[in-house]
Amino acid sequence: MRQKFIAGNWKMFTNAAEAERLATAIVLAAGNQTKVQIALCPPFPYLGIVAKAIQGSRVALGAQNLYPAKEGAFTGEVSPAMLADVGCRFVIVGHSERRQYFSESDSFINRKTHAALAAGLKVILCIGETLKEREDGYFKQVVDFHLSAGLVGIDAAKLADITISYEPVWAIGTGKNATPEQAQEAHQFIRHRVAQLLGQPAADKLTIQYGGSVKPDNAASLLSQPDVDGALVGGASLKADQFLAIVQAGS
Ligand code: 13P
Repeated sequence: MRQKFIAGNWKMFTNAAEAERLATAIVLAAGNQTKVQIALCPPFPYLGIVAKAIQGSRVALGAQNLYPAKEGAFTGEVSPAMLADVGCRFVIVGHSERRQYFSESDSFINRKTHAALAAGLKVILCIGETLKEREDGYFKQVVDFHLSAGLVGIDAAKLADITISYEPVWAIGTGKNATPEQAQEAHQFIRHRVAQLLGQPAADKLTIQYGGSVKPDNAASLLSQPDVDGALVGGASLKADQFLAIVQAGS
């Protein structure tokens, strides 16, 4: 039985005071529960504040990005070792916003995945199709490409430190979530492809989150699908009560 994994991607929102308040409220309400794995992914400047707020709880810290090098003259970038150093256990790679606004390629995303794993971080690898790709009828090809390109050089043992997050681009920040059936179809396909690539036991253990307009009122039906193992939550993760309701839905 796979444990549900609910992560909050705060994107470029909050300030220091809000980050502390939000993390503290989540820890107070759900910091010790064992049913659901929770991770919070604040902006870089607030990692330390959130690390302190969640200290001693079961809530984990995650980052939203990294640069795939140990160290070096890369002005403005952050290494995986730095993230681990400030307490991160997870890092998000392959988010559609980074693919779209920062032209990140699948091979660059793959390098990030390897760099993160080498530093002892767990990876949340985001994949998913655009509306046009879905309407044109080839969402599975896109998902398959993101998946297989993202997992180049990853063996079954390393997959244990990777969560796949299926985030259809048309559902992100639009209020238009995938239906539970659409999410299940995509997740089942992802698990099937991972089984072909890395074997059934690894695929059976793989956590596959859904992301895209997850809210308290749709979380339970999405999370009740057999292959939906959690959620990567954007907007609703910025409100403690909404995020906690989603965690509750996964419990
Ligand atoms: P929303 O929940 O705001 O649609 O964002 C989803 C997302 O991009 C999480 O990474």
